[in-house]
Amino acid sequence: MIWGMTLLATACTSHRNVSSQSPVYLDESKSIEERVEDALSRMTLEEKIDMTHAQSKFSSPGVPRLGIPEIWCTDGPHGIRPEVFWDEWDQAGWTNDSCTAYPALTGLAATWNKDLSHLYGHSIGEEARYRKKSVLLGPGVNICRTPLNGRNFEYMGEDPYLASTLVVPYIQGVQENGVAACVKHFALNNAESNRHTTNIHIDDRTLHEIYLPAFKAAVQEGQAWAIMGSYNLYRHIWCSHNPYLLNDILKKDWGFDGVVISDWGAVHDTDEAVKNGLDLEYGSWTNGLTMGKTNAYDNYFLADPYREGIRSGKYGTEELDEKCRRILRLIFRTEMAPDRPFGRFTCPEHYEAARKIGTESIVLLKNEDILPIAVEKAKQILVVGENAIKMMSVGGGSSSLKVEHEISPLEGIRTRFGQSSEIIFERGYDSHTNEGYNGVSAGKEADETRSAAELFNDAIKAAKKADYVIYVGGLNKAAHQDCEDTDRLSYELPYGQNELIEALAAVNKNLIVVNISGNPVAMPWADHVPAIVQSWYLGSEAGTCLAAILSGDENPSGKLPFTYPVQYSDGPLKEAAQYPGVLEGKTGGVEAYDEPIHEMYYSEGIFVGYRWYEKQAIKPQFAFGHGLSYTRFELNDIHLDRTSIRNNESLKVTATLTNVGERAGAEVVQLYIQDEESSVERPLKELKGFTKVFLEPGESQDIEFSIDIESLRFYDATTQQWVAEPGEFAIHLGTSSDKILQTAKFSLR
Ligand code: BGC
Repeated sequence: MIWGMTLLATACTSHRNVSSQSPVYLDESKSIEERVEDALSRMTLEEKIDMTHAQSKFSSPGVPRLGIPEIWCTDGPHGIRPEVFWDEWDQAGWTNDSCTAYPALTGLAATWNKDLSHLYGHSIGEEARYRKKSVLLGPGVNICRTPLNGRNFEYMGEDPYLASTLVVPYIQGVQENGVAACVKHFALNNAESNRHTTNIHIDDRTLHEIYLPAFKAAVQEGQAWAIMGSYNLYRHIWCSHNPYLLNDILKKDWGFDGVVISDWGAVHDTDEAVKNGLDLEYGSWTNGLTMGKTNAYDNYFLADPYREGIRSGKYGTEELDEKCRRILRLIFRTEMAPDRPFGRFTCPEHYEAARKIGTESIVLLKNEDILPIAVEKAKQILVVGENAIKMMSVGGGSSSLKVEHEISPLEGIRTRFGQSSEIIFERGYDSHTNEGYNGVSAGKEADETRSAAELFNDAIKAAKKADYVIYVGGLNKAAHQDCEDTDRLSYELPYGQNELIEALAAVNKNLIVVNISGNPVAMPWADHVPAIVQSWYLGSEAGTCLAAILSGDENPSGKLPFTYPVQYSDGPLKEAAQYPGVLEGKTGGVEAYDEPIHEMYYSEGIFVGYRWYEKQAIKPQFAFGHGLSYTRFELNDIHLDRTSIRNNESLKVTATLTNVGERAGAEVVQLYIQDEESSVERPLKELKGFTKVFLEPGESQDIEFSIDIESLRFYDATTQQWVAEPGEFAIHLGTSSDKILQTAKFSLR
């Protein structure tokens, strides 16, 4: 301690020497880099060490002596998490922290709309700012590798191009508010079961082509100011202090200048934490969700053990300065940024943003002329299903919210149709789950007294008399559903819903099934029901969005961000070694965490999602990119501005989209590229462009894409380079991966 005090005294003296003028680090006219270097030069060793690890569950110190503020983080990614106690996960019980809930990120991905991604980021960023947060823990961009991953609802689907394109405007929108986006979870965190003890085996080509692009876009195009290291291991080193991912790829190759923040409790070793690219340690001695250890902060790997290591000469201060530089840079970009807006909270504009995004995210999967609901024929509408009455913004782990309001599907349907129709509700099944989290209830958990058979029979009885039956079921946010820390146990719908849907279909031909989930689910009844709607966890305006689509007030325009296989066994993950991993005798190997490690092999390689189903010629239930509309579109006149290009040239692709139906609506034109001759196996086609176009009835619009060499390349693992090989390529334009309407060819010389 005496040693620390001496240093402090020295720093104070030097501070006094410059105090006649305004110090550079406080001078807003100076560049951030100048301010960072100046602040760093004034900090003591103690202050630097303090800065690299948490002081509470969600905050880490600034430099009080210099007036440099603390960093405050918040989850993320769908709304601003309620405040918790300083040292605990328990909710602090504030009465002014109920936020706006935005649709879960799968929903945002299903909009295929960059403008809405920006609106989302900007709005949630405003809420984070109003709540005085420096870092928003989101967005998440881990690729959907298996529909069993409990956390897919927090991510942006199965395709690297889609996720890359949509993550960028989200980040920009957040950061316009002087709040850092923290992109998560870097990397290879594609399953939740054993997430702290799974080591990923993956070839370099798959890593670079499938699992890294969205993070790379977040860093290079989105200019994200923070990134979160994941819980799992890669090459037998935990990802939150993994030198390949953090030092080599993220910082060196991609030029990331922001802060690497550990996931909560993802740090296990001081030596690795010092050297391998981690900047800021959070949540040690917790499992990230529930377990807490009061006042453990001095024991953090980057706290006392780091200080001791420097004192004993084991470590120099070069790494420490580099960590602090990055943390200071984040503080100057956020807390100490000039002219930062003040933010807004739960304002009408934010509800409107949630409504707009939610409505555009809903995917009409199937419609045999039953939707939109004809109000004149709907004297009585029966709503069946537990998800019609639940608060779906609650549960699921760290993204669980406390909202100011959430309109349930039943409320939305009542408001929209209640004037003209009698609305009846039957629960149909009882999940007996309690997604309530941290003092916030998902509602309606415990007040059902009927037996399962009674619930089932009551629903069927009511269905016989109703003009329409709207079934609102799916998954929920309980453990082993769409929920952090656990994976789903099966691809099927839970709680006997398949039987219930079949029975409803047998007694009422006007059955509309609304599936609410953050993952694909099996739909064995798909041929027996006339309409299927995919909704997501839509947040505050959920019911309003759904009712607008069912009534036709809004025309559906969402597209699936992942494939719905008919059955799980159609997918690429066949062996336990692929998923959920196998024990091969290795352990964590560090003193603090010597648990048995599960080895998980991504041996399906690049064949993830539609890349797999197309290669195997397996017809899915619903393909990637699928989604219907209440109007009809035609796509014509594909034209390439040239038939061959060289390496440094780009190609212009044009076509004409026409709304040939009777309603205004939007279509997403998707551009896929096929490499027809290649020295390595390539997917049949890959998404490389899309555009969402709104058209009035009868209206046409020319659409244009620019294709450059980047869209033609694969990652050559032997040379570690991206390569585009000369030869023939095809461009496919369509409205779904399985609905290609126009094709044209060109060659690369
Ligand atoms: C999650 C992160 C989250 C953090 C803080 C962890 O369990 O994996 O996504 O941001 O907790 O709540």
